[in-house]
Amino acid sequence: MITIQLTINGEKVTAEVRPEETLVSLLRKRLGMTGTKESCSVGECGACTVILNGKAVKSCVTLAAQCNGKEVITIEGLQQNDELHPLQKCFIDANAVQCGFCTPGFIMTALAYLGEHPNPTREEIRSAIAGNLCRCTGYEQIIDAIEAYGKTAGQS
Ligand code: FES
Ligand code: FES
Repeated sequence: MITIQLTINGEKVTAEVRPEETLVSLLRKRLGMTGTKESCSVGECGACTVILNGKAVKSCVTLAAQCNGKEVITIEGLQQNDELHPLQKCFIDANAVQCGFCTPGFIMTALAYLGEHPNPTREEIRSAIAGNLCRCTGYEQIIDAIEAYGKTAGQS
């Protein structure tokens, strides 16, 4: 076992992890943080995306031990004072959620991207979310949601 210390949604966490244990397994099975989803487990679908030191990563192909000393943000970390994050509200307003399984991954991917590229074009959004799959929405509403948030965030 390896002892790691990391920050998850602003809280310091110490955990004993197996060398092969993935970050998504640590989050979901050990810490009970089930907002991050796991589907393909091979880095193809993006459902498990979290933000690691400011970058979107697929937590099913990220070892927990690699996160020692790093900062992780998950979908649970976005809500402030019982208020959804503005990007979460944009997803609701744009009807960008159907079954919702893919949604945490899309939101974390989009937030990391928007942090570096405020107010992106629809083409740029398409390219930014190319690693995330949704079987329900047809993607247009997801792009609408990210575009809408980008426009407001780009003004601030
Ligand atoms: S579950 Fe991680 S990319 Fe699909
Ligand atoms: S809303 Fe169902 S997979 Fe995207």
